[in-house]
Amino acid sequence: MKIVVAGTGYVGLVTGACLSEIGHNVTCVDIDKNKVEMMKQGISPIYEPGLDELLKRNHDAGRLDFTIDYRNAYKDADLIFIGVGTPEREDGSANLDYVFNVCKQIVDNVKNDCLVVVKSTVPIGTNDKIEEYLKEKVKNNVNIEVASNPEFLAQGTAVVDTLYAKRIVIGVESKKAEVLLREVYKGYNQPIVATNRRSAEMIKYASNDFLALKISFMNEIANFCEMVGADIEDVAKGMSFDPRIGDKFLNAGIGYGGSCFPKDTKALHWLANDRGYELKTIKATIEVNENQKYKLFRQAKNRFGSLKGLKVAVLGLTFKPGTDDLREAPSIPNVRRLLDEGAQIVAYDPVGIDNFKRIYPSEITYANTPEETLKDADIAFIFTEWNEIKSLNLSVYEELMYTPIIFDGRNCYKIKETKERNVDYYSIGRKAVLNFEKHLEKEKEMEVAIGQ
Ligand code: UDX
Repeated sequence: MKIVVAGTGYVGLVTGACLSEIGHNVTCVDIDKNKVEMMKQGISPIYEPGLDELLKRNHDAGRLDFTIDYRNAYKDADLIFIGVGTPEREDGSANLDYVFNVCKQIVDNVKNDCLVVVKSTVPIGTNDKIEEYLKEKVKNNVNIEVASNPEFLAQGTAVVDTLYAKRIVIGVESKKAEVLLREVYKGYNQPIVATNRRSAEMIKYASNDFLALKISFMNEIANFCEMVGADIEDVAKGMSFDPRIGDKFLNAGIGYGGSCFPKDTKALHWLANDRGYELKTIKATIEVNENQKYKLFRQAKNRFGSLKGLKVAVLGLTFKPGTDDLREAPSIPNVRRLLDEGAQIVAYDPVGIDNFKRIYPSEITYANTPEETLKDADIAFIFTEWNEIKSLNLSVYEELMYTPIIFDGRNCYKIKETKERNVDYYSIGRKAVLNFEKHLEKEKEMEVAIGQ
């Protein structure tokens, strides 16, 4: 069977590469000629562990190819996977222009019966509309059907998430489509949930929004922990032993980012509103996350009054470790606020600097190591829990910073360790440790005493 994948972003490229890995013949279509040439050489345009190897191996084996010639690719395809983006519009709704562009190219070119499989996250009911559109426009008596096949991969672990997925969801309206998709996925040996198209579309939103809700819930509990003297890390651990709760996605921090949670929470909320229904839990999820992003910035402002002229070290820029993606990363608006305050920023990230430079080309300085970032800084913010940052000994902050005052948005350090150091340490859901402040106060007292 001939499989074509439209779009070579995270979803499309990983889908194509993994399907070829289990033995299918796959052609990935993209509009960018340079990108296509790169991928043919086994170079992935996105940073994703293990992907380069998959591209190279399967391209060399003749199972995986890349092209800009969509006409030829769609002409005789048996299955066309759509994995293009569905970005957020101003009002929070999903922008389906890319999906429908691909659909237009498909109807204009297919000559064989084919199944169009939508992997992109689309609002509930969209696949029905896509099928209507395709059936209406297709020529030459070609039989064309649509299936929903949402994607659950996370960035940074996309290849493993796909090859060893916990489940495959297929939303189909005919037995024929179900049989074909079961055949495609036979090689993965994973549980398949077959349902109708609308339920499949809803499974995707409900899954992502539930995870976002879980994070916002933990962030609220964390904020309250600080007020009542509880420790969110211990609270999360205590909760995690209950299998009904589970031990994942309980990490409090400065909020979720990325290409999915922010977009998909807003899209579902918008969709429900459009039908006259308020999804209250999703609304709260979005509000809590928005507020959480600036939690440490507010604390720094409270402490210093003004941040003007302070040298601020920013450790971690990407929305999470293991990716160079900056979409909705809390670092971006925080750096904006810090700059607006008049702070001088030096930033470090193991892989995200090139992308960050596109947003802030000259307003901030970039460093090659955490040490270089911290040198003579007045404040350090941690926005991403990269290993390179987490493994940094607290003595480095103590030794290199002008005033070792740390605002850790990802709880990288144990409170016990911070208490043993001459640092001030603010984190999420745990009482601030103010050793440096105490030390300063003592120094002041001594100066006064000596002066007397
Ligand atoms: C997510 C889903 O996990 C994936 O199934 C879906 O297909 C796409 O969206 P991704 O955005 O790549 O994947 O990253 P994920 O690892 O889920 O993290 C999203 C955000 O949540 C990150 O900003 C991360 O820092 C934050 N997060 C995650 C927390 O704040 N706490 C946690 O416990 C887990």
